[in-house]
Parts: sequence; C-alpha cells; structure tokens
Amino acid sequence: MKTEELKTLLEKMSLEEKVHQLMQLPGAYYQGNAEITGNMNGDQYTQEEVWEAGSVLGLYGAQALRQLQDAYMARQPHHIPLLFMLDVIHGLRTIFPIPLAQGASFHPALAERCAQAAGEEAAVSGVHVTFAPMADLVRDARWGRCMEAYGEDPYLNGEMTAAVVKGFQGEKLRDVGRIGACVKHFAAYGAPTAGREYNNVELSEHTLREYYLPAYEKGIAAGACMVMTSFNTLNGIPSTGNRWLMRDVLRREMGFDGVLISDWGAVKELIAHGYCEGSEEAARRAMEAGVDIDMASDVYGKSLLRLIREEKMSEELLDQAVYRVLTLKNKLGLFENPYKDGNGTQENIVILSEEKRKLAKEAAIESFVLLKNQDEILPLKKENKVALIGPYTDWKDMHSAWAIAGQGQDAITVSEAAALEKEFVFCSVPVEPILESYQGLSRKNGSDVQWEEALLENRKQTQEQRSAALTAAAQADTVVLLLGEHRLQSGEAASRVDIRLPERQMELFRAVRKVNQNIVTVVFGGRPLDLREISEESKALLLAWLPGTEGGNAIIEVLTGRSEPTGRLPMSLPQCVGQVPVFYSEYQTGRPAAKGEDPVFYSSRYLDCPNEPLYPFGYGLGYTSFEITVPILNRNYMSREEKILASVEIVNTGKRRGSQVLQLYIRDCVASVVRPVKELKGFQKICLNPGERKQITFEITEEMLRFHDEKGRWTSEEGEFQLWISDSCVTGRAVGFTLRG
Ligand code: GLC
Repeated sequence: MKTEELKTLLEKMSLEEKVHQLMQLPGAYYQGNAEITGNMNGDQYTQEEVWEAGSVLGLYGAQALRQLQDAYMARQPHHIPLLFMLDVIHGLRTIFPIPLAQGASFHPALAERCAQAAGEEAAVSGVHVTFAPMADLVRDARWGRCMEAYGEDPYLNGEMTAAVVKGFQGEKLRDVGRIGACVKHFAAYGAPTAGREYNNVELSEHTLREYYLPAYEKGIAAGACMVMTSFNTLNGIPSTGNRWLMRDVLRREMGFDGVLISDWGAVKELIAHGYCEGSEEAARRAMEAGVDIDMASDVYGKSLLRLIREEKMSEELLDQAVYRVLTLKNKLGLFENPYKDGNGTQENIVILSEEKRKLAKEAAIESFVLLKNQDEILPLKKENKVALIGPYTDWKDMHSAWAIAGQGQDAITVSEAAALEKEFVFCSVPVEPILESYQGLSRKNGSDVQWEEALLENRKQTQEQRSAALTAAAQADTVVLLLGEHRLQSGEAASRVDIRLPERQMELFRAVRKVNQNIVTVVFGGRPLDLREISEESKALLLAWLPGTEGGNAIIEVLTGRSEPTGRLPMSLPQCVGQVPVFYSEYQTGRPAAKGEDPVFYSSRYLDCPNEPLYPFGYGLGYTSFEITVPILNRNYMSREEKILASVEIVNTGKRRGSQVLQLYIRDCVASVVRPVKELKGFQKICLNPGERKQITFEITEEMLRFHDEKGRWTSEEGEFQLWISDSCVTGRAVGFTLRG
C-alpha cells in the first residue's frame, strides 16, 4: 500500500477501530495451544476487541494462522490484517545455542546466519515479527535472563545485537523468509537490584548511557522495526511510562521511528508499580511515553477511548501510534498478502532442514568455551575407554525455557552421538538429575507436562544407577561428566541466589573423582555458575551453555577433536555469587588491590575471596597454541582527525589448525570522569594452520576514545591512552599513544 493510501485508511477508521489496532492479545484468546509467557491478569476483552485487535502473540503454524487470518479478515471492516508475533529467541524448531552462547562465539556473522535461519522457520510458520534480540547488558549471574543476553560488554553486545537484527530482517521486511526484529527490553532490564527478576534498576545517567544504551542503539541503527519496553523502573520511573526514556532518548536521540510495544502486561503494571492510580492514568502515561502497542493488558482497550472522548488526551497521539502500526504491517507486505510466508507445504521442507541442523551444530561448536585442559586430556585419545556419566548424558532438552517450539525429540543426545562413533569407545551411564534438588525450581506456568514426566523419570533414579556409574568410571581411562542447571533454572522469572550446581550432582562428581581423576567436565546452563570445585578437580572444563538441537553431536565433535571449541567468555565467570556483579571493565578505585601478591591492607578487596573472577571475560582455550606479538603502532600520537594503525603478528605455534579471537582493548588513563581499566573496542576471530602467521591490524579512531563526560557530552579528551591486542581481557602487553589537539 502506498503511504498516502495508509493515511487515507487511517482517516476512515473510527476511534474504536484505531484503539483496537494498539491492542495485542495473547494467542490464548484465539487458540488453545498458544504459548503463555506472562500472567493472564484476568483481563476482559469483548468479542469485538478480540476480533479487531491489531496483533496477537504466542501463536505459530502456517495452517492455523492462515485460518485465523481468514476468520479475522472476514470480520475486519477495513481489511487490516492481523499481525502475528512470537518469541523466536534462538530458533523456532531448529534450536540454536542460547544468545549468551552465541555471544561466546565472538562471531556476529555466524549469529546473523542463525537469526536468518530462525527467521525462515518462523516466517514459513506464519510469524511476522519476533521479540528478539534482547540487547540488555548483563553483569549479574543471579539474573535468569543472562541466557538471553550477549554478555557483559557493551561493544560485543552491540555487535551481536546488530547482526541478529540484520539476520532476521535482511534488506526488506516483505522479502520471503524475513521477519521483523524487536530490540528489547528498553532499557537496562539486565541490571535489576540484587539480580532479582523485575526488580528496580538504579543507574546514573552516565552509567546508563555509557554501558547500557549502546547495544540498543546499534540494534536500532541496524534497522530494527520494533522496540519493547522493559518491566523495570529506571531510577524510580517505570520504563513503560517513562517519557524521557522513550520520547527523548529512544525516539529523538536514537531516531527510532518504528513501533514501540510494551512488555507483557507492562502498561497495566504501571498501576502495580504505584506509578498510576488506575487504568486511565496508565493508558495516558504509556501513550504519552510513546508506547504504541499494549501487550497483553486491557488498559488501552478500556481507557483510551474515554481519555480521547473526554479530551484528556489528543487524538493526534493515537493517530501517530496507529499510523506506526499500519506502517509496520505495510512494510511486511501484509495488505497485499496477509499470510506473508505462512505456507504449510513449505513448512515441512524448511523446518529442521539438514542445512539448518548443520548450522546449529556449527554454532554450538563455536560457542563452547574450553576453560581448562590439563595434560591436554582433550581431545580424547582414540585408544582410551571413555565413560560418559551424568544427567546430560542422554538429556534431550539442551535448549532454554525460551525455545517455545523446540522439541527435545529433535535433539541428538550426547550418548546417541557417541554411539555413532566408530573410532572411540564410549560407554554412557545417564544418572538422571534429581529435579527436586534444583533449589527453588517451580513449575513454569504450573502446567508444564514435561515437568511431571521429568519428575517421574527422575524418581526412577536408583542406587543401582549411581553404582553403575561409578563402576564405569573406575574402568574407564577418562570420564566425561555431563552436568548442569536444568533449563528451567534460567530464563525469565528464574533468578537464583545460589549459582552452584545441584548438590546431588556435586556428590556424583566427588564420588567419580574418588575412583578416577581423569575427569573432563562439560557444564550446561544459562548463566555463569560457581564452578570452583569442578574447575579445581577436573582436568578439563568445557562450558556448553544450552547448545540446542545439535548439542549432542557438537559435544562429541569437540571431545573427539574433529572440531575445536573456539568460544570465549562473554561474561566473567565468578568465583562465587558473593562476587556478583563482577565484570572486567571496572574502575580502578583510589586504592586498587595489587593483583596476586600480598595486597595492601587498606585496598579495594575482600577478606575471603580474590577480586578476580575464576575465569575472565574474553578467555577461552582451543586445541592449538598461538603467539601474539606486542602491538606495533604506525604512530604513537593522533589528532582527532587522524587514526592510528595497531598491528600484531599472530602465529599458530601448535600442531593443528585452530582459531583465536584477537581482542582490542583501550584505556583512557586520565579523564574528567573516571574511565574503566580497559574496554573492548574491537575483535577479530581468525583461523590459522600450524606454523601459519598473520598480521592483524586494528584502526584506532577518535570515535573509539569518546565517552560521556560529566556534563553528559559524548566526547574524547586529549591525553595518554593504553592499548592491548590480546586473547583475553587479562593478557597482552600495553602500548601507549597520545590523543592531542
Ligand atoms: C515476556 C518477556 C518478553 C517477551 C514477552 C512476550 O514477559 O519479558 O521478553 O518477549 O513477554 O512473550
């Protein structure tokens, strides 16, 4: 439809019809099998509202959505199509590694390919827009949605967010296989006080702008068609009613002119926050803040009409919101084709294709982080007898709680993949996890059938299983222990104060360690965990995160050495929960504790724990070794108009081809506001043959040196800087350069 036709359409619409376009109802009002991802707050909708609401969330399936669209359009007075949105977070049916794992790949182009593949499956299943990527910066391992973030660093976060937006959207939304991307949750939802879900966020504007906003901005600059508000208050004001945050920062400063949708029920929650008296005030505040769509609440439906009729709110505001929604539907081509790509025949071809499985395996392999490899116990030796033991030996649900359409049945377990090995001798002894021992794990939505089945399965675990495991461990040359969090222990509403593995799994670990010290531990989970004992007592430690449908194949590929794990930590791995939030780009403080040696008594440290995390951001091992020279600069000073080229030579000093992630860190030594000890400003992932050497160069620009000064200006200041090019945030030697007038 042409722009002027859209405007004409808007003029023809009644007030009621306009308000309906701003209502998004849960799919449960249309189909019984809808995914419910929030509290059904007892909202009441009239049949007219149900059949004229502008969009629906939580449904997928080509045939079902085509039928629903037909029924809807038959009633729609202006033939405005219904918009279908769904949480396609890391895959629809082919499940890719969780976003945190994709952050660990340090490979934005790979994440873009995964998003494109996920978008193709979603599009053919009738979905028009996904509620992804989540761009929230996360530095607190207690928060359950770490799994959905790309980590603790603003630069990595922004690169991954932009790549995923492009992967979903491509060049044009109306193109086949493309769906809209929704950058969320605006803003700073990843910094809840005490790591507790939905809790208040207190950030100075400086910290907000310096660290938490950049990734959203990169997602918007990449063309995201939608932004979602966050549940949290930001410095006492709920984001969903925050005019400064939405009108000034998001729309005016960041130039976002797409659709702003609330999170589930967040407009109504303005009342629960104690920010609005009732529905009318909530509707007005949200509309004035620029929230276009009220997701899963009846506030807009119940109150916007009255506000406008009683002239408490201008119809112009309503028209602007409705026009943005109509424009999005138009960009998706829905006026010409309300089904977009929904196609039952194609669905069977596109979904779970071999090509997508292959990509899922590639992404899983690139996301694994090898933290320890003592005596080069990995890759496994062909002649060794290997016992695979633990809950994840044959656990199919290696995906997150957000893998809405993901099915464990599609997954290849580690033991299934091992059974296909011809050159290795594996014996698998699954020791079912005792789900009850997962502290505080309550059933999601109360009706999770899988939960009941899993509990029943669990109760079968007998002492025989445990002793069979120990017998296998005693007879093996190497034991691979596959342990981890349950997938429902991370994700939304899954904050934890204890980030250790379940005690039952630690008992199993200690029992195995007594009979065999050649232990490789593979850890699954959606957040950084307290792995001190596991790390200390294992010879090798591999983080598998929640790797998705091809997790089993990917793990065997890596354990046998056919592939190399090339992930690097996107979040610091804490010593323990007491250290959290712990992240590398911290401030020096006035009394920095000397690293390692006996610290000065009065210095910034703990009495009972090192300052350093167990494993640092950007760290990870592979199956070869590299040497990286000290950076060489083509000049050691620059004006604002000039650049510096910083180069290193890297050589593969090992015996096999391997990858390395070269990371560029910069420090501003002195400035009008304190600057972090270092910040990631670039990275390049490269692969070299044994003996191969390569020069890698980074361009240092003045833009990289900017920060928000004490007046909030985005500026650089002349003076001394340090630069590293290394394989983690704690390695490499600094070289200095000067920014001068
Ligand atoms: C949830 C989540 C949000 C999701 C939305 C729709 O509460 O916070 O990320 O996209 O509701 O499911």
